[in-house]
Amino acid sequence: MPEAPNFARGERLLQSDISLLNAMRIGRGAMPGYMGILSDREILDVISFLRTLR
Ligand code: HEM
Repeated sequence: MPEAPNFARGERLLQSDISLLNAMRIGRGAMPGYMGILSDREILDVISFLRTLR
């Protein structure tokens, strides 16, 4: 997917969990939002995982 961040390079991860939560809730660019699909708790778990990839 062009433009999608590479989390293994740490792209976009210099933001607070709350900013990332918001982006994943409502969507960003070509990315659909996950609100109603994942709970906030589940999205925060995904963010914790993303932070282990660097
Ligand atoms: C487990 C699934 C996914 C996670 C955890 C995820 C997470 C993220 C995060 C954290 C960002 C950065 C937001 C920001 O900088 O504020 C992002 C951006 C982006 N994502 Fe995803 N995403 C997922 C699935 C997808 C899918 C399915 C697509 C494409 C259909 C996609 C396309 C994009 C694109 C294009 C951007 C950059 C948007 C922009 O800056 O204009 N993502 N994603």
